Amino acid sequence: MAGKNELYVKKILDGTVIDHISAGHSLDVLRILGIDGKGGQIVSVAMNVESKKHGKKDIVKIQGKELNPGEVDKIALVAPKATINIVRNYNVVEKKKVKLPSILKGIVKCANPSCVSNANEPVNPIFQVAGDEPLRIKCHYCGRILEKDDILKQF
Ligand code: CTP
Ligand code: ZN
Repeated sequence: MAGKNELYVKKILDGTVIDHISAGHSLDVLRILGIDGKGGQIVSVAMNVESKKHGKKDIVKIQGKELNPGEVDKIALVAPKATINIVRNYNVVEKKKVKLPSILKGIVKCANPSCVSNANEPVNPIFQVAGDEPLRIKCHYCGRILEKDDILKQF
């Protein structure tokens, strides 16, 4: 264990710190962001570390990359309690909590091949969020329920 005044992972100069990820879910966050290490980014991950607030958490630090709003929305699907910290010159210049909306539009595709949202017509997929941890979303068109693994497969 790191001592009280130590960090598991050192501070970053510039980029994004995704903090307060539910313990054990940092790899889901990387997956949904499409980060697999092959893009060459410097990424550090801490899993199951002590949280100042309560229990354990995961942290992901992405050097040199500020997440855009679309990426922040995707993180809410797998880490609904995460905090996004934008870091410039070692300082946190922006801190925002992710927010899982009650309706998802256009982020996830329906897993039902015969759903109208998967036909050739341009129908934007829409889901109602039925639960956050574990994640459950329901297709507005066909009622199919998707769980976290169905969603992660798409990224
Ligand atoms: N951090 C970092 N590199 C920096 C600045 C901050 O890796 N240059 C990390 C910190 O280690 C922490 C997170 O970014 O995990 C948020 O930093 P900060 O806001 O300073 O910490 P807290 O006040 O503890 O955050 P919160 O209130 O959100 O828990
Ligand atoms: Zn559907």
